[in-house]
Amino acid sequence: MHPCWQILERHRDSLDATSVLWLDPPQSHSLIKTGDHCITPNRANHRQNPAQWLAPDADWPATVDHLVLFYPKAKGRLEWWLRQVQQQAAGATLWIVGENLGGIKSLPKRVSPWARCDKLDSARHCGLFEVRQENALPAGQDWLSFNWNDHTIHALPGVFSQNRLDTGTAVLLGQLPALSGELLELGCGSGVLSLALLNGDQQNHLTTVDIDWLATTSTQRTLTDAGMADRAEVIWSDGLSEVPVQRYDHLITNPPFHTGIRTHYEPSERFFAASHDWLKPGGSLWWVANDFLDYQAVLQKGAFEVQQLAHERGFRVYRAVRKG
Ligand SMILES: C[S@@+](CC[C@H](N)C(=O)[O-])C[C@H]1O[C@@H](n2cnc3c(N)ncnc32)[C@H](O)[C@@H]1O
Repeated sequence: MHPCWQILERHRDSLDATSVLWLDPPQSHSLIKTGDHCITPNRANHRQNPAQWLAPDADWPATVDHLVLFYPKAKGRLEWWLRQVQQQAAGATLWIVGENLGGIKSLPKRVSPWARCDKLDSARHCGLFEVRQENALPAGQDWLSFNWNDHTIHALPGVFSQNRLDTGTAVLLGQLPALSGELLELGCGSGVLSLALLNGDQQNHLTTVDIDWLATTSTQRTLTDAGMADRAEVIWSDGLSEVPVQRYDHLITNPPFHTGIRTHYEPSERFFAASHDWLKPGGSLWWVANDFLDYQAVLQKGAFEVQQLAHERGFRVYRAVRKG
């Protein structure tokens, strides 16, 4: 169980007494009552109960007295959430809970220009605060962008590669030829790799997924702005769970290996283990990984010819061709 639930359990009486809107809870918990709602950018949470776990662009329930926000680790995402709160539920009581490891101790300083922040509790290496807005939130910028190859890459806060090209992505891009046919990418982030894939061959088609709603929204904007959205399907999906089953010519990924504060290899391992079934015979899987990550071991045994294409700046690029 995520440690933040343990500190919140000490406040069960207050939480049981009101209708609570949970913002970005890490998973389900008995504190979330049947009548409560959650807003989540995480597709894995959303798909378990879409009537209760709403996407960030859904209308927030009108009768909410109490909000509990799980302190986001990703840079800029706290302010993004607070702007949503200001727009949708300005009068509600706002609690923010987080782990010391995730930086919750810096909350009072971060909100001090516009809000009062009182500590309600601390335990289990977590802190719980009540935040009361006293001044208007500084006009913030939801969208970030950078230029890459004469295109603008757009990103919402906390999305991977939000203001510069990642080194791993750059090393992978250095090895990728123009890929033709049906392409599938796992983990699109702000869409820089998606854009590069569509830019290479003007006839190909890309399906690209991300578990993070802010990432798929960012990629959609990046591809629309580049005039490439008609050759792409951007899907909010945990791994390939929302992707209609079909076989692809190429699978491509700069694979995810952490969620929030912790490393988490499972989504990538699932993808690598299943890749044989998503590829046409002779199709190939392209990926980049840190020196210390070995996904080859997860590929279906004997089903691929694997080649290391590059080893630069701490990253390795591989191509695995599915045997007949
Ligand atoms: C290393 S980043 C790569 C982003 C982009 N392709 C690039 O190279 O700049 C990995 C991406 O995978 C996404 N991700 C993490 N877990 C996932 C999952 N279970 N299913 C789909 N995407 C996931 C993350 O949100 C992140 O955007």
